[in-house]
Amino acid sequence: TKRIGILTSGGDCAGLNAVIRAVVHRATTHYGWQVVGIEDGTQGLLSRPVRYLNLDLNMVDGTMMRQGGTVLGTTNKGDPFAYPMADGSTRDRSQEIIGGLRELGVDTLIGIGGDGSMAILRRLAAIGGIKLIGVPKTIDNDLGITETSVGFDTAVAVATEALDRLQPTAASHDRVMVLEVMGRDAGHIALTAGIAGGADVILLPELSWSIEGVAAKIRQVQRNGRNFALVVVSEAVKTAEGAAARKEFADGQKRYGGIGNYIGHLISEATGAETRVTVLGHVQRGCPPSYRDRLLASAFGVRAVDLIAEGKSDRLLAWSNRQVIDVPIEEAIAAYASVDTASTLVQTARGLGIYIGDVDG
Ligand code: F6P
Repeated sequence: TKRIGILTSGGDCAGLNAVIRAVVHRATTHYGWQVVGIEDGTQGLLSRPVRYLNLDLNMVDGTMMRQGGTVLGTTNKGDPFAYPMADGSTRDRSQEIIGGLRELGVDTLIGIGGDGSMAILRRLAAIGGIKLIGVPKTIDNDLGITETSVGFDTAVAVATEALDRLQPTAASHDRVMVLEVMGRDAGHIALTAGIAGGADVILLPELSWSIEGVAAKIRQVQRNGRNFALVVVSEAVKTAEGAAARKEFADGQKRYGGIGNYIGHLISEATGAETRVTVLGHVQRGCPPSYRDRLLASAFGVRAVDLIAEGKSDRLLAWSNRQVIDVPIEEAIAAYASVDTASTLVQTARGLGIYIGDVDG
């Protein structure tokens, strides 16, 4: 019987279990294959004996699609080509990983991960003669080849709900509420949730902004008779104004305990408004997936198995134009996508009068 391996790699997000469930479903019931779930990403393949779970329908059907996290565990530590050793040195442990897959009798792997994980898995597959199919997941939605990745929709839903919860308390206390969201170097979560959650200000890493611009917007809101404001700040917001300003910005973040807190302080200083700051953090990752993430995960999982049956390898799945397509993994890794500042969503934010930066687009 054919055995295929599956692993999750990089930061977790909602929808990983839904991918695993779909893969096991398709592989076992349609093709009669066995599915080996590798534990903790490539870490499980470095252990001896190799750490894995035999995944069958009994194990994955039922509650699993609804659960956040990954039943397999994951890791974003330990690039096997430069593995950090206890003494501070690094070592190439790629052959151990390939040996681990051989031990499992697996020559075909489904890797669920972002661009970093895909780059590593692709190198491993090439030297080990492993067939690899990638499934894109990331709450940051920064893989440009796919319109959306597993986990993004749920993260946006959580951030939007946070704004829904912050609005009434902001209004009750005449406050400016700052919500710091994740997204790494890309502002997709901030932009999408900011619009959906009725923010007055959205600060992104991709657009330059000024505290004067933010303060002017808040004063305008107040002048119009509204007693509260909602501000969404992406975790990687920058200042573009030269070395001295950058140093001040970095120092401020240190002093006030992070970017959201620092911007909250700057707003209260500039406007006199009372501010409160919420750092949403990992709440954006660990919860039952939204229906969209369940659908995306299911579509990707089924197609990943079918691609294997078709003899394909080194392909990443993507969502494009209402359907699942597959593209060379190398192409997908190269297509990093932060927020396009000319995009419809940026225009929408501007059209709604949201302060999103000083440059007119
Ligand atoms: O890439 C996903 C992500 O959640 C980013 O949005 C965030 O910057 C980072 O991972 C957090 O990483 P960790 O889970 O290691 O704290």
